[in-house]
Amino acid sequence: MKRFLLSVVILVCLMSIVAFSMPYEIIGQTLYTDIGAYINNFPIKSYNINGKTAVAAKDLADYGFNVTWDEANRRTVIELAESPILMPQTGVYKNGARAGLQEKLCLATDITADIGGKVSECANIDGWTIVYFDDLAQFGEVMWDGIRRSIFLTISTLPQTEYVPLPENPNVTTMYAPGGRTLLVDNDEIEAYLNVGWFLTPPDEKLVALTFDDGPSNHTTRILNCLEQYGQKATFFVVGNRVNNYSSILQRAYNLGMEIGNHTWNHPKLTTLSWDGIISQKTRTDDAVRSITGQNTTVMRPPYGSKNDAVLNAFNQPLILWSIDTRDWDTRNVQSTVDSVMNNVKDGDIILMHDIYEATAGAVEIIVPRLINEGYRLVTVSELAKAKYGGIEIKAYNHMR
Ligand code: NI
Repeated sequence: MKRFLLSVVILVCLMSIVAFSMPYEIIGQTLYTDIGAYINNFPIKSYNINGKTAVAAKDLADYGFNVTWDEANRRTVIELAESPILMPQTGVYKNGARAGLQEKLCLATDITADIGGKVSECANIDGWTIVYFDDLAQFGEVMWDGIRRSIFLTISTLPQTEYVPLPENPNVTTMYAPGGRTLLVDNDEIEAYLNVGWFLTPPDEKLVALTFDDGPSNHTTRILNCLEQYGQKATFFVVGNRVNNYSSILQRAYNLGMEIGNHTWNHPKLTTLSWDGIISQKTRTDDAVRSITGQNTTVMRPPYGSKNDAVLNAFNQPLILWSIDTRDWDTRNVQSTVDSVMNNVKDGDIILMHDIYEATAGAVEIIVPRLINEGYRLVTVSELAKAKYGGIEIKAYNHMR
């Protein structure tokens, strides 16, 4: 009897699951996406449904659209507003929030969307109508930009603004599995995923760290312009006594996500100094940098690559040497600097240059797009260490492979 009752209970449970799940087929895992989406260069929060970029219809109401509900046809109606007022969302990250495999199931829905008079398929996340970005091409031009990894809708009748890159969400990290799968995870879950076969970079992606010593200088600006244009990162090992004269350039580098390293106060050979002398070189530079960016330096490079245990212990920071020496300070020649990088570069290299020479800035403008074309992503040294080893240690590095 007991067994019979149990069977009935199980059967009823199964039937109710079937009854409620039938109209709501799960059509995908909705991942917050690492791809940026923009309407007239205003960022809009986007989702990734089975590899397609999608946005919430309710969000479109802030971007110059009327969004209404047509009960008779069970349809979300999206049309351009007559007097559009753009109210771009604040806090739109390039990778939204938590990956949400558990809590953000993407469901098929019996509701459709009327997008500019055309009936279109849509999806349901948390009860919201989600439309595919491509379908917004009814209203303007949809364009994919591979270098900025962003999708753009341009509508001629609405106000435009300047393109501003989306900030990365600092609380999550994209992880990769063989076969092209990606997943955003909370930072404190990284180790658990590493242990079950996920990676911090695509298994086939090549990374390289450009590093610039002895600045800042006026030539740093050209280098920053180039890195910003292509959405790439680099590390700047600054000389402390130059920092105040170029404070706005340092601030801009920091705001663009460049890593700021310590290259001492006035460029001595550290191995000839006393302990107190080494400490002073570190702290004076950190104080100057912190007075501008609010942050101490995160890594250090000793002038002339001259190091010993005292240098490492006094700085108590990762000590970053190099695997490619461009000798740009010696040649001051664009082509020679370009060749020394492009003829030797490998995954995990740390490349030494100096942002105080005009020829180096000219070389960077050639090197950056060529590296991207060859499949490299340009990262800071700490990002390189995180990608290759899961984090950076207090020791000397010549490369990170
Ligand atoms: Ni130097």
